[in-house]
Amino acid sequence: MKISGVDVRDLKKEYGTPLYIYDAAHLKNNMRLFINNFKSDKFETEVLFASKAFNVKEMVRTVASEGLSLDCVSVGEFFTALSVGFDPKKVYFHGNNKTPEELRFIITHNAGTIVVDNLMELVALDMICKELKKPVNIIIRLNVGISAHTHKFIVTAHIDSKFGVGYESEDFKTMMEVIEKSEYINFLGFHSHIGSQIFDLKAFEAALEKLISYCKDYKEPLVLNIGGGFGVKYTDEDKPIPFDVVSKTLIETCENALKKNNVSIKKLCIEPGRSIVGEAGYTLYTVGFTKKTPNKEYYFIDGGMTDNIRPALYQAKYDCDIVGKENEKRDHKVTIAGKCCESGDLIIEDYDLPAAQPGDLLITYTTGAYGYSMSSNYNKALTPAVVFVEDGKSKLAVRRMTLDELIEREE
Ligand code: LLP
Repeated sequence: MKISGVDVRDLKKEYGTPLYIYDAAHLKNNMRLFINNFKSDKFETEVLFASKAFNVKEMVRTVASEGLSLDCVSVGEFFTALSVGFDPKKVYFHGNNKTPEELRFIITHNAGTIVVDNLMELVALDMICKELKKPVNIIIRLNVGISAHTHKFIVTAHIDSKFGVGYESEDFKTMMEVIEKSEYINFLGFHSHIGSQIFDLKAFEAALEKLISYCKDYKEPLVLNIGGGFGVKYTDEDKPIPFDVVSKTLIETCENALKKNNVSIKKLCIEPGRSIVGEAGYTLYTVGFTKKTPNKEYYFIDGGMTDNIRPALYQAKYDCDIVGKENEKRDHKVTIAGKCCESGDLIIEDYDLPAAQPGDLLITYTTGAYGYSMSSNYNKALTPAVVFVEDGKSKLAVRRMTLDELIEREE
């Protein structure tokens, strides 16, 4: 099996397993589908990569070279971006509980826009700006009362979400008064993020309608950021909308809503994470022992929940293959289990695969988003290496952790 012209067996020889593999050509293509189609002649547009999905230096370099902006949600993500010379002006900094130290770091390192989550944050931010004598651009995260997950979305749900403020709330009114009085806070507009793995764009339409209806209350055209959450294909059950269609539909929806409400906006932003990296990522494992129990057959792999927590955490489903046996008869119903001392450490359950032998390679698909970024060292597992492949060549992006590194911070 080859990914972007590179045989995965050669990757195993060179880098070992478990191994995260990113198809750089696929990544760039996904970015271009957004960048080239998320455009309007009625307002400016901006595509941000939600870096929580996968934030390593090589990824940030790719984001920069493709001209996307960046959503960071921690100083760690921002610091990684700064370390490779990413333009801080193109960073939107999120988070519901930014500490004073973090706010100071963000402001002194000139993050372009701060996404303010709540009233207390705004008050703290204003004080820190005064202390540092530095102005900041902000957008306010609103809770628009719409929550979407996969095929369903619910309006007036989630009013108690930990993120954002309600437009009608007392807190929001007070925030506007703080902004009015502040010499340092430059209010640009609103943000909303309605969920993950969404296939029904009507949910975004509902969120956009709300945000645009609020725009009437302001003299200046606002910046609106409608977050990410565009669905990808993990298994055949998922039917994602192509990203060029997603982009064009959102633009059209926004243009129509502006016309209907007779308002204009300055800029529309989106911040896809999963849709950019998800399907471009693979995880390669080596099969170790296999075992039959009265009702099950297990293939054990050399990774598991430490490199992919999503099945254990969200009952997420994945597809996989035994490398070189893709076209063999799938006459074994097996459960792919990891190495952790944890019964829930199962990557795929009751899945049809051909017979596998110890030493075979097993590859899981669509692991590019929230795999590496949510990896852990539970059971003192070593964080796997990450490689980027393109045009028949591979490039190490993250070296596999060593045992010494595992204990190097311990006294
Ligand atoms: N913008 C904001 C404000 C977000 O909170 C998120 C994701 C995104 C953008 C990107 O969403 P995406 O396009 O990647 O769906 N760990 C979970 C996902 C948590 C997502 C949190 N926020 C998972 O593995 O599915």
